Amino acid sequence: MTRLILGIETSCDDTSIAVVDEHGRVLSCKTASQVEVHEGYGGIYPEFASRAHVAAIIPTLKAVLSEVDISPQELSAIGVTRGPGLIGSLLVGLHTAMGLGAGWNVPVYGINHLRGHLRSAALEGGKVEYPAIVLLASGGHTLIAHMKSADEMELVGTTRDDSVGEAYDKVARMLDLGFPGGPVMDRIAKTGIANIRFPRPMLGKGYEFSFSGLKSSVRRYIETTPDMVVADVAASFVAACMEVLVSKCRAALAEYKPASLIVVGGVSASPQLRAAMGELCASTGTALALPPAEWSTDNGAMIAMACFDYLDRDAERNLEVDPNLPISRL
Ligand code: KG4
Ligand code: ZN
Repeated sequence: MTRLILGIETSCDDTSIAVVDEHGRVLSCKTASQVEVHEGYGGIYPEFASRAHVAAIIPTLKAVLSEVDISPQELSAIGVTRGPGLIGSLLVGLHTAMGLGAGWNVPVYGINHLRGHLRSAALEGGKVEYPAIVLLASGGHTLIAHMKSADEMELVGTTRDDSVGEAYDKVARMLDLGFPGGPVMDRIAKTGIANIRFPRPMLGKGYEFSFSGLKSSVRRYIETTPDMVVADVAASFVAACMEVLVSKCRAALAEYKPASLIVVGGVSASPQLRAAMGELCASTGTALALPPAEWSTDNGAMIAMACFDYLDRDAERNLEVDPNLPISRL
């Protein structure tokens, strides 16, 4: 019988629950977004995030269970994000999962959110070949890792300050475009011309990233240019981000010569990033593994997908919340 896992993700501002089978097919995934809760603040307000998870988690679970025709006892496991993320938000998901596991008599695994993003590329028939270079570009992280196999991971480089998603969000806020910034920046950037030369931080300097200087440079430009064209600012900012992300990945492909490049995390929903990575992989003969855009941002399906790895390797069932859990730990 095909194994099924229930995945629960509440690390930040999305309450997301899914049932996924062992082939990566998503039987159901429901996500309650908190955009309306936080949009007035221009970022995530942790206390409100926890409260919104409490309000949304049971209705979200019910919506998923009503869509999949199984009894909970048929689940092989429940996978729930245990970190990294906001502690109050993580606790809501974790304690809900523990209650369900005890009530249904189903084992519960605490899952590393970053491992979830990694495995999102295998959802809905996605093929991932190893060894691989991974670019994880999200609101919380920007990093490159080398994976010799699905189990062996070595961190190659990360950001010294802001993540690329955070930079998108902050620049969108400066331009009064709302929150989250990624999708709206993409859309507006497409209508503009990348004619402003913003800095490309850390370009040609190893695998470390830094996006805070780029963000400050955009702020200075906005403050000193009364007749600025918003679309051109967005296009120029996106072009700077793309050049940095692509050049670091190009260097990693040249050094590690992997079979595939995996691009995941919220920013991997960006059509500009998808196109740029497609060109890079075509020019180097590397397979490109991307999740379907809807599974790029946080979701319960990727947590369920990652949970199969924990189940298969009989990993310790760690249910401790860790807001700073590194990618190298399960
Ligand atoms: O992976 P994710 O949902 O949450 C974290 O784990 O951080 O990523 C959220 C980030 C936000 O910064 C958001 O602006 C960005 O991903 N994002 C995008 C797009 N959709 C979401 N960035 C660029 N283009 C998009 N289409
Ligand atoms: Zn995430």
